Amino acid sequence: MSGNRAVAYLKPGAVEVRTIDYPTLELKDGPGVHPDNVGRMCRHGVILKVLATNICGSDQHMVRGRTTAPAGLVLGHEITGEIVERGPDVEFLDVGDIVSVPFNIACGRCRNCKERKTGICLNVNPARPGAAYGYVDMGGWVGGQAEFVMVPYADFNALKFPDRDQAREKLLDLTMLSDIFPTGFHGVVSSGAGVGSTVYVAGAGPVGLAAAASAQLLGAAAVIVGDLNAERLAQARSFGCETVDVSQGSVEDQIAQILGEPEVDAAVDAVGFEARAHGKDAGEAPATVLNSLMGLTRAGGALGIPGLYVTDDPGGVDQDAQTGTLKVRLGLGWAKSHTLTTGQCPVMKYHRGLMMAILHERVHIAKAVNATVIGLEDAPAGYADFDQGASRKYVLNPHGALEGVQPV
Ligand SMILES: NC(=O)c1ccc[n+]([C@@H]2O[C@H](COP(=O)([O-])OP(=O)(O)OC[C@H]3O[C@@H](n4cnc5c(N)ncnc54)[C@H](O)[C@@H]3O)[C@@H](O)[C@H]2O)c1
Ligand SMILES: [Zn+2]
Ligand SMILES: [Zn+2]
Repeated sequence: MSGNRAVAYLKPGAVEVRTIDYPTLELKDGPGVHPDNVGRMCRHGVILKVLATNICGSDQHMVRGRTTAPAGLVLGHEITGEIVERGPDVEFLDVGDIVSVPFNIACGRCRNCKERKTGICLNVNPARPGAAYGYVDMGGWVGGQAEFVMVPYADFNALKFPDRDQAREKLLDLTMLSDIFPTGFHGVVSSGAGVGSTVYVAGAGPVGLAAAASAQLLGAAAVIVGDLNAERLAQARSFGCETVDVSQGSVEDQIAQILGEPEVDAAVDAVGFEARAHGKDAGEAPATVLNSLMGLTRAGGALGIPGLYVTDDPGGVDQDAQTGTLKVRLGLGWAKSHTLTTGQCPVMKYHRGLMMAILHERVHIAKAVNATVIGLEDAPAGYADFDQGASRKYVLNPHGALEGVQPV
């Protein structure tokens, strides 16, 4: 094997499918690779033939030029694949196994990994805690929107599906286990929601829709999803959510019309720092969702915040926003004794249980997020449509494995 087709970030608004090197069990120099990671040997790694890999809202932050991602960075952190080569130190996985890969890269050996905080592993990114494939500031691990990718610490990171045929049949749902399903679920769990809760989810993108489906799975009494994108709100209604159009003014008033009171038990921010202010034709205001959630969550409640906030945003609305410094009304949250949970979702905490929910058809995650299969070569068009707000979760199909695969 020599070449490997892969999706690379070029410049704001542009990605390209190009041929890169076939992966080896070594992290080589390249765009975004931290100098101390160059030459890192991964005898504990595997090479995957990528069977499904999704485009994420997190990728869009980079592709919109809202991060310091370098040109040429190979994208893709949502990876499901078949092992085609295993490193000499891999003990419990075999060639031919089909696995889901958490987007967080974790060593399994450090203090944080031992505490199951795999989103902030201390040993995989010399620059800061936490790493991911194909992501700015995340160590430089090569992304998986490609035909092939290397996955380090494979025994620890990979989730092996119990049956190959079943995995192939349910691949369109299982591909959501690498990120958005656990991420949405984590948002809901950290919002404290459970049986009988009323839940507000800000954002009807794939993560918000996954959070809404998760809240239903956990037995919420009412799930209300807010966005300003009509098509995405319709998608949320298609599986039984109530909706709020934040461009129509006060979210609390709209929640009161649904619930009879302007508060919910639990709230999830599935928007992040590119949040739009509420009301008609409102511009960007990065603290909008955080402040709104503190307003509409009951005293004693909690906010799950999977929505991404950055330390550097070249496109920020003002100087503060450019360093991730937001005007958050913490006094309000403090007065209501709110609990806030931020950060990368520790995917590994949830992926096995959610895999079982998919395999036993207890949840319909691919349908909820409107999973839409496209070819690897069509990634630039997929990125453009998703950027325009298409109510779809694009799944790239580098080897045709998703041909004819239906949602569960
Ligand atoms: N924490 C994690 O581990 C993790 C993992 C995956 C994604 N994320 C983040 O989650 C966020 C959502 O991801 P996605 O793929 O669904 O992205 P997306 O961009 O497709 O969805 C965001 C949605 O928020 C809507 N929106 C904007 N302002 C709003 C407001 N004030 N109220 C309600 N909705 C508003 C947009 O119209 C859009 O539909 C992103 O920030 C992404 O980076 C975090
Ligand atoms: Zn993602
Ligand atoms: Zn670790």
